[in-house]
Amino acid sequence: MSEDTHDRQPAAGTGRKPRVAIVFGGRSSEHAVSCISAGSVLLAIDRDAYDVVPIGISREGRWVLAPDEPAKLAITGGTLPSVEESAGSVVLSGDPTTRGMVVLEPGKVPRELGGVDVVLPLLHGPYGEDGTIQGLLELAGVSYVGSGVFASAAAMDKGHMKALFAAAGLPIGPYAVVTPRDWKDDPVAVRETVAGLGYPVFVKPCRAGSSVGITKVADPADLDDAIETARAQDPRVIVEAAIAGREIECGVLEGLEGGAPEASVPGEIVVSGHEFYDFEAKYLPDEGTRLDVPADLGDDLAEEIRAMACRAFDVLSCEGLARVDFFLDESGRVLLNELNTMPGFTPSSMFPLMWKATGLDYPGLVDRLVRTALARPAGLR
Ligand SMILES: Nc1ncnc2c1ncn2[C@@H]1O[C@H](COP(=O)(O)OP(=O)(O)O)[C@@H](O)[C@H]1O
Ligand SMILES: [Mg+2]
Repeated sequence: MSEDTHDRQPAAGTGRKPRVAIVFGGRSSEHAVSCISAGSVLLAIDRDAYDVVPIGISREGRWVLAPDEPAKLAITGGTLPSVEESAGSVVLSGDPTTRGMVVLEPGKVPRELGGVDVVLPLLHGPYGEDGTIQGLLELAGVSYVGSGVFASAAAMDKGHMKALFAAAGLPIGPYAVVTPRDWKDDPVAVRETVAGLGYPVFVKPCRAGSSVGITKVADPADLDDAIETARAQDPRVIVEAAIAGREIECGVLEGLEGGAPEASVPGEIVVSGHEFYDFEAKYLPDEGTRLDVPADLGDDLAEEIRAMACRAFDVLSCEGLARVDFFLDESGRVLLNELNTMPGFTPSSMFPLMWKATGLDYPGLVDRLVRTALARPAGLR
């Protein structure tokens, strides 16, 4: 890949370092994962180049000024990190004429945090990766890392994402979306549609992540329970025919200076001791999951996957970064599974590992993401 050396933009006309707000935690089931990612970024980001403001969002959705202490955001003694509530709160107004964040503390005059030049929304799942915080940042006129409102929302919903991929002619497996009305009005028709996909199937919430709410169903008698499990996360459900084969992932970065997106070398997830890449296999150490980077694919297949990853990025109009996940079925066919607009971002997560194997290390990756966002004006960009 190419790495340019052009200067970081100083905050326009101010002569100071660009101020980067790292926003993490959040209301989704991936709160702890986001905290761990943020701890890693706080350690790695170049303090000579950027002023850093860590902002945590509690599980309840409260924004607080977080201590700039990466160690507090690591797993300690088996306890997952989280954002602690504090008396003060941080408010970002949707008013673009202020462009600032304000700290509110009981009994004190509201204090401005100073102009934030770019926000890194290091949030996974609903209320973070789904276009909602992106919408607030657009209203506020603040630049941010990663995809905009549309791509974030489209990639968050597995049903809409698949429809867009299919419309663009990208290869995906058979699936059916079950809306709340479908399930309420005609569950018999839903069961027939699912039977038509062929068992086993995967039943998933349309908008979730980290495999939360996902069940593999082999017996039609278990379908209703699996649909209810998915509905507990999201009333919109997707059912997919199970694809037997390998799981391959590929990282994509927005091209520099308006160029085409660039893909990393692909990696492979090898799950053992679990029926699929479920929550435990993803996050509990020593659970037997192995990440092979680069994946053992051969040049032609690796190139096909890299090109398809860039195409998927463009089909959804992604910006900044994405991780694109594939199945390689038993006949050797490549099928798209999903695209994540804010993939797991610890140094041992697949996305940074794939970029490291491509020649861009973790601090370099953080720097490139911030620079790409700084170079892009806020608004209709
Ligand atoms: N159609 C499918 N065929 C085979 N395995 C699947 C299928 N869909 C999901 N899986 C398994 O479930 C995991 C999680 O599903 P995924 O759609 O990636 O949801 P999430 O957004 O939670 O990561 C995948 O990594 C894979 O192991
Ligand atoms: Mg996945």
